[in-house]
Amino acid sequence: MERLQKVIARAGIASRRKAEDLIKEGRVKVNGKVVTELGVKVSSNDKVEVNEIQIEKEEPVYFLLYKPRGVISSVNDEKGRKVVTDFFPLLKERIFPVGRLDYDTSGLLLLTNDGEFANLLMHPSNEIEKVYVAKTKGIPLKENLRKLEKGIRLEDGKTAPAKVKMLSGDKKKETAIVEITIHEGRNRQVRRMFEAIGHDVLKLKREQYGFLTLHGLKAGEARELTHHEVKLLRASALQVSKKNS
Ligand code: URA
Repeated sequence: MERLQKVIARAGIASRRKAEDLIKEGRVKVNGKVVTELGVKVSSNDKVEVNEIQIEKEEPVYFLLYKPRGVISSVNDEKGRKVVTDFFPLLKERIFPVGRLDYDTSGLLLLTNDGEFANLLMHPSNEIEKVYVAKTKGIPLKENLRKLEKGIRLEDGKTAPAKVKMLSGDKKKETAIVEITIHEGRNRQVRRMFEAIGHDVLKLKREQYGFLTLHGLKAGEARELTHHEVKLLRASALQVSKKNS
C-alpha cells in the first residue's frame, strides 16, 4: 500500500506537493469515489483517476543482480555510497531490492517494482532456501558445524535447522570455505551464526535463491527474470507458506 499522492507523483502527473493539492481540490478518485484526505493509501489493484483520467501504472519488472561487495541494498544512501539500483541507470521503473544483503556480502539479489511479489517472498513463513558460501577465520570443527545444522541460539532466538557443507580448509592460512543453506532472513544471520561458534566470516556470497543461481553473470551484472521464473518463485513461496500453515 502506498500513499495516494506518491502514486500520482510516480505516474508522472504532478510533483508530490501538486498531487496533494489535486487531492484536496477533489480532483482525484479512487475506485470511482472522490478522495480529499491526504492519508489515504492505495494498492496496485485500486483504480486511481485524476481529472477523470485513469493513471498509467508501471508494468511490473523483475531482475536478478549479482551484487558486488561494497554496495548498499537500498535505492539511495545518505552518505552517497553505491546502491544496488545504480546498476540499472537506464531503467524507468522504480525498482527496489527484495530483502537485503549486507554491504560486504556479494551475490544474488532480486529487485522489482512489484510490492506484492516482494512481500510474498520476504514474508517470514515463505522463506525460500538461500545458499551462501562463507570464508571463515579458522577452520570450524565438525561438532560446531553440527550446531549450525541443528539450530543455534542467537540474541533474537534459535535459528531454524540449516544445511552445512565444509567445502575446503586451508591449514596454513587458517581459513575455511563453508556452504550453508538457510531459509530464514534475519539481519546478518549467517555472520552471526558463525560468530556463535567462534568464527568470524571474512567473505560471504549468496550463491542461490531458491532455484535461481548466478550462472552466466559477473559481479555487477543483472538479468531480467523470465515469466516462468517469476511464476515458479511465486508458486514456491506460496507452497512453503501452505506447508507452514
Ligand atoms: N547473512 C548475513 O550475515 N549477511 C547477509 O548479507 C546475508 C545473510
